[in-house]
Amino acid sequence: MLKPLPDAILAPLTKGGNLPFRRLCVEFGAPITMSEMAYARQVVRGSRPERALLRKHPSESCFGVQIAASKPEDAVAAGRIAVENGAAFVDLNCGCPIHDVVRRGMGATLLQRPAALQRIVAAMVEGLPVPVSVKLRSGWKEDEINAPEIARLCEEAGAAMVTLHPRTREQRYTKAADWSLVARLVQERSIPIVGNGDVLTWHEARDRRAESGCASVMLGRGVLIKPWLFREIVEQRTWLPTAEERVGVYARFIAHCREHFGDDEKGRKKASYFLPWHFGFFCRWRPLPEAIFEARAKTYPLMQTRIDGEGDGAGELSPLERILRDPREAVHKQLATLFWDAPDAAAACAALERLAAETPAPLDGEAGEVAVAHG
Ligand SMILES: Cc1cc2nc3c(=O)[nH]c(=O)nc-3n(C[C@H](O)[C@H](O)[C@H](O)COP(=O)(O)O)c2cc1C
Repeated sequence: MLKPLPDAILAPLTKGGNLPFRRLCVEFGAPITMSEMAYARQVVRGSRPERALLRKHPSESCFGVQIAASKPEDAVAAGRIAVENGAAFVDLNCGCPIHDVVRRGMGATLLQRPAALQRIVAAMVEGLPVPVSVKLRSGWKEDEINAPEIARLCEEAGAAMVTLHPRTREQRYTKAADWSLVARLVQERSIPIVGNGDVLTWHEARDRRAESGCASVMLGRGVLIKPWLFREIVEQRTWLPTAEERVGVYARFIAHCREHFGDDEKGRKKASYFLPWHFGFFCRWRPLPEAIFEARAKTYPLMQTRIDGEGDGAGELSPLERILRDPREAVHKQLATLFWDAPDAAAACAALERLAAETPAPLDGEAGEVAVAHG
């Protein structure tokens, strides 16, 4: 792991943190990337889709693999395979709220099984030649906040870093992340604490770090919406890309997908699983200049409530802008196909403008919902 930790780290993101997307993030300056969560047991059994999650791109200089495990032996065996595949560190998921994961004793369930969690972390520390980190939520539910206790056990077991996404398993994304809990862990622990939750701008990253004292900020949905967030953090300024510039970014991502999945029917099929989903995040981008954010905020509105805020120039949108902001899943599928077929960004712009001309504007309430269940 990098020492000292950089200002920002890419969060583990199931489906979103695929290799082509991480490669794009690296190009925008992400110094540490993380895999999607892989089930340790399946990795050990040799499941192909699960093993594929461990693959890293050569440009990822510090790549961590996140595993979900309920048993120490699975965690160690899967961690070893991850290291053979180039992982610079291995992270244990202790926050995933989804039913299928928790009912099998993994993810957020470990918050309720502190002794088991500590045994897993200790075994990983003992059995792996790379640093071990743990990603936590605040606790199972609001009256069971135990992240401070869990972080202590992780540190005692030898974890090199703890990330806290300060929401409970039950809260999912319904409330703002409680960054005061990150500050508390920083006070109480001597290992680096990484804070995570609701950071969408470089200035929030700066403020959250300054206020909580955390070693680094982990970025999830902010990067899914604007993969250039890492560059904004490095340069400490907001980039308000034109619609054409955004098309350029998405076209580069799709070129990475083509290279990774293959420029043939098989590749197209694989990409058709990821790309419309990514457009479900890309379409949420709105310009939010710092001055406007400062004027109305300091209250840190939830990411979901920022979608149509001030400063988004929503008045008269160009056809290209309108189609990029379209929230409908059917349109995201069309965008994915057009981008895949376009030889370059200019051709993509032209195809998108044609699509915009023949696509009626969405009716009120016709927004597509993007599932954000993990955590
Ligand atoms: C689509 C999606 C997939 C996620 N997958 C994972 C995962 O595999 N492992 C994990 O620990 N957290 C996962 N999370 C949670 C994020 O890593 C992060 O903790 C959470 O989204 C809060 O950060 P944010 O407000 O910057 O998005 C996921 C979140 C999203 C939106």
